[in-house]
Amino acid sequence: MQYSAKWESPSNIALVKYWGKKGIQLPANPSISFTLDEAKTITKVSLEEKQSQNDYEVTVLYQGKEMPSFEGKIIQFLNRTSKLFTFTKDYKVVVNTVNTFPHSSGIASSASGMSALSLCLCSIEEQIEGNKTLDFYRKASFAARLGSGSACRSLYGGIVSWGAHAQFPGSSDEFATELNQSEVFEDFYSFLDLILIVEEGEKAVSSTLGHSLLDKNPFAHTRFEEANKNMALLKDALKEGDLRMFTKIVEAEAMMLHALMMTSDPYFILMKPATLEIINRVWAFRKQTGLHPVITLDAGANVHMLFPEQEKDVILNFATEQLLPLCKNKQYICSKIGSGPKKLD
Ligand code: DP6
Repeated sequence: MQYSAKWESPSNIALVKYWGKKGIQLPANPSISFTLDEAKTITKVSLEEKQSQNDYEVTVLYQGKEMPSFEGKIIQFLNRTSKLFTFTKDYKVVVNTVNTFPHSSGIASSASGMSALSLCLCSIEEQIEGNKTLDFYRKASFAARLGSGSACRSLYGGIVSWGAHAQFPGSSDEFATELNQSEVFEDFYSFLDLILIVEEGEKAVSSTLGHSLLDKNPFAHTRFEEANKNMALLKDALKEGDLRMFTKIVEAEAMMLHALMMTSDPYFILMKPATLEIINRVWAFRKQTGLHPVITLDAGANVHMLFPEQEKDVILNFATEQLLPLCKNKQYICSKIGSGPKKLD
């Protein structure tokens, strides 16, 4: 019997940021994100007959090329999920994966990659067991979290939260949940994310290292309290359609994330001069026009500009003239909010 599964899974952009961990891949504070429609990973996993006595036997193909350097990360993931997917030790696991965005774009592929991989393993488990997994997406989200925290939010479309919070019923540190659409003012679902690529390639400091530095950051406790407050405020803003509050929380979160990096030991700065120039130009444009572009940043130099669909024409004109010249080779990705992963044949 040949077992294989293929899934496509998207990236996401956090509005309230996950930065800091506890236990085994549990978040120090809750977070919330928009699922993106662009920036996806397409992964096929096939099980083949094992050739060696090793615990795990893995082959990884990335964009069609065998990548032995990616095997360690996949083996670590299979190890962490060994109780969830017991079959992975019995076979050679072949992972064939492609991204819809260039590797050089500096867009992290861990969220889309780990969520796609988890979905493939959940589907294969169903084939082996011969029955449907209860709470399929919840299991995939739980597993994806063990690969990369932010990946657990990519399992659902729309707006997704991860981490226990009193005002988010059913929320958990172990897996993500989608916000009920009745809890969100409709216009937010038509938001666009223009990702302005300031820096290409690998990040100077990995997220994993950045998270670990929070353990000794003197502002960590205050940060976790602020994130919890911001979750509640953002929930209200999303429900009421309060764009002013949405802007304030989302931008404050990005600033705080980078302030945490600057106050870690060792401290570091991931923003580049062009990052700051883009932010300043967007803020000046917002003041001048009264329109609603909102800035957020990941753990990197690239800028995400979120804005409502109705303002698209004017904002994209502004971006073309004033922001793209500041980007590396004028690179950008423009994404809608997406509906989440898709199973492929
Ligand atoms: C700044 O999920 O990449 O993007 O769990 O170590 O894989 P690991 O970290 P990762 O961290 C993402 C951090 C962030 C904020 C966010 O997405 O919430």
